[in-house]
Amino acid sequence: MLRTSEQEASDFAPHHSNAMTRVCVGGIGVEIPEASISNEELVDSFNAWVDAENPNREARGLPPLAKSDAEFIEHASGIRQRHVYERDGILDPARMAPNIPARADDELSVMAEFGAAAARKALAHAGVEARDVDLVICASAHHQRPYPAIAIEIQKALGTSGAGFDMGLGCSSALAGLHVATNLVRSGAHRRVLVVTPELITAHLNFRDRQTHFIFGDASVAVLVEALGASEERPGRFEIVDTRSWTQFSNNIRTNFGFMSRLAQEDPSYLAMEGNLIKQNGNKVFKDVTIAGHKFIVDFLAEHGHTPETMRRFWLHQANARMNAMILKLAFGGEVGQDRAPTVLDRLGNTAAAGAIIALEETHRDMKPGEHGLLCAFGAGYSIGGALLRMM
Ligand code: COA
Repeated sequence: MLRTSEQEASDFAPHHSNAMTRVCVGGIGVEIPEASISNEELVDSFNAWVDAENPNREARGLPPLAKSDAEFIEHASGIRQRHVYERDGILDPARMAPNIPARADDELSVMAEFGAAAARKALAHAGVEARDVDLVICASAHHQRPYPAIAIEIQKALGTSGAGFDMGLGCSSALAGLHVATNLVRSGAHRRVLVVTPELITAHLNFRDRQTHFIFGDASVAVLVEALGASEERPGRFEIVDTRSWTQFSNNIRTNFGFMSRLAQEDPSYLAMEGNLIKQNGNKVFKDVTIAGHKFIVDFLAEHGHTPETMRRFWLHQANARMNAMILKLAFGGEVGQDRAPTVLDRLGNTAAAGAIIALEETHRDMKPGEHGLLCAFGAGYSIGGALLRMM
């Protein structure tokens, strides 16, 4: 049932009051593309390209390219398949990039469409009309363009009121968006904020790079952050107890793709462009983020009188199953199972900032009132974001 603006007027303190407002997750939406690619399919396409490329390299006196391996991918990352916006172009060894036709400026852009699909589901879950949302934040690791902000296009597509802006913080973008949204609602500046995270990563991924071609998948998520009455409890929804953001500069995950790329390239061909797509020193990221991530979790929880043991569930960033197991092992001092820290990356790949929210959406309905859980994402920047949630 939709809640009306009139009903709310009596439920909440007026805008811009000095009292700190309680905040909740009113609704969550997840949009996953239907098409998927298994490790075997991806590796077959990569290896076909290597077979075609190596004779040319040999003729130029270059060392041969090494092949990729499906077993390595699953063992190293835990990923078995990924869902993608478009699969034929990715699997075509002559292209190795999704076929996503350019759209005219007066058509809805792909990223806004993908974001709006998840946002509509979040609004339906919350039982809230678009016009009652007064801010849209498009918080994503990969933005299709600098301006006009994708959030404003989503605002138009949905018919939300107020304003919209984009922000990005690598794979911690959704958590950074939640951090901002929570504090804007808490302060009374906004009443309802939609944090939308469309991750169309395959468009930005270098499928000719053996180190990274298997990592990412596409997904879009949205979270509606709402004000909560002073003593209001909404069964089945989470109160956001607190949020936190941490960053420390690192070049170990980087993309240089942007308008400066053109100036530095002597050869503006597609191949030259590849050097500016996502690159990472995965092994270094693994070690650095594991150490920083477990410390962030323990310290953030301690500030609220919690320990890892008092969390019913952890919804961690979905990049690497071994990395999550290691973070939890350091935090708990022992192994932690799927029920405590569910994984979705085996079937979705790393969906950048969307991954932890997908885990949250899929695995919260069995939680009991009063139980707590921690959303925590980490990635490029380096960056880490956390949200401590209490089931109402
Ligand atoms: N197929 C087969 N072998 C491969 C391969 C592939 N696709 N990619 C790399 N290898 C090889 C390497 O060449 C290396 O071989 P060598 O030992 O003979 O030199 C070996 O596998 C190990 O490579 P390494 O890069 O150390 O692998 P890894 O165990 O660190 O796993 C990742 C790679 C990317 C899965 C892992 O480092 C990771 O997930 N890191 C964290 C990434 C992350 O969280 N990023 C955040 C993004 S949001």
